[in-house]
Amino acid sequence: MIEDYRAAYLREKTLRKQAEQMLEDKSRELYDSFRKLQQAHDSMQENQKALLHNEKMASLGVLSAGVAHEINNPIGFIYSNFCTMSEGMSDIQTFVFTMDKLVNSDADGEKIREAWREGLTRYDVEYLLMDFESLTSETIEGLERVKQIVADLKSFTREDSGEMDLVDINECVRGAVNILSNQTKYHAQVHVDYGELPKVKGYFGKLNQVFTNMIANANQAVDENGDIHISTTYNNGYIEIRFQDNGHGISKEHLNLLFTPFFTTKPVGEGTGLGLSLSHGFIEEHNGRIKVESEIGEGTTFTIFLPPADD
Ligand SMILES: Nc1ncnc2c1ncn2[C@@H]1O[C@H](COP(=O)(O)OP(=O)(O)O)[C@@H](O)[C@H]1O
Ligand SMILES: [Mg+2]
Repeated sequence: MIEDYRAAYLREKTLRKQAEQMLEDKSRELYDSFRKLQQAHDSMQENQKALLHNEKMASLGVLSAGVAHEINNPIGFIYSNFCTMSEGMSDIQTFVFTMDKLVNSDADGEKIREAWREGLTRYDVEYLLMDFESLTSETIEGLERVKQIVADLKSFTREDSGEMDLVDINECVRGAVNILSNQTKYHAQVHVDYGELPKVKGYFGKLNQVFTNMIANANQAVDENGDIHISTTYNNGYIEIRFQDNGHGISKEHLNLLFTPFFTTKPVGEGTGLGLSLSHGFIEEHNGRIKVESEIGEGTTFTIFLPPADD
């Protein structure tokens, strides 16, 4: 009887040991596959980051050629203005020094007055002073243009911090319009209508990238002298940002593919096929959505809906 009991006990002990072993094997396997999954997830996130960076860099490549030209132009006339002003300045200096000498000599009043009148004509002082005025204001304007270009570039390359900010959508759209103006201005008429909007809680850099891509796409879709209408409005609790072009339009088959990564109808070097897929992700991240309407030969309208920040 005792023997039976002991045998049963031993059998039970072996079974339990086996079960424990099995459990341990299983949990090790589970842990291993969990680790593998985590690694796969991490590397996918890395890839996604790299893609995002690529699209930005590709657009930046196109932009920087235009930006260099855009900065070069005001820098050119600022330089030439300063040369002109410096020549004029030395004439005025000579005139002032001559007069100073004369005033401090024992020359009589009439002689001084005559030298003054003669000098004013000889050095064209009146003209120089008027010229200074216009050269200075033109120079300030040029410097402001350069400043604006740099600010727009900065807003385009702005890295978002991890935190969402309160974003002024109009400012964000304006940055995108400006940064692309050197591409659009030879090709299309851009009309922008800014409505009064509440702020959005989100990432300025990502939204700016979305808007930049929308305008770049529209610009690539229109013929010479095409029209691009951009508007921002606040309707039924949503901010609407509309990009409307009268370009070549999108075929029915392509409409379903637009947001697929790498879908592009553009030649290599012109399109990455990532703009809309990234835009889609970014807008979802802001709890918004994108609507597309297009008619072949008529044009395309992209409308982005974003919820305002709760106050
Ligand atoms: N405004 C538009 N008009 C016509 N086609 C467009 C427009 N916007 C996007 N598309 C189409 O969608 C494709 C994908 O756009 P996108 O994701 O920005 O990539 P990419 O611009 O690099 O091609 C474009 O290649 C083009 O065929
Ligand atoms: Mg694009």
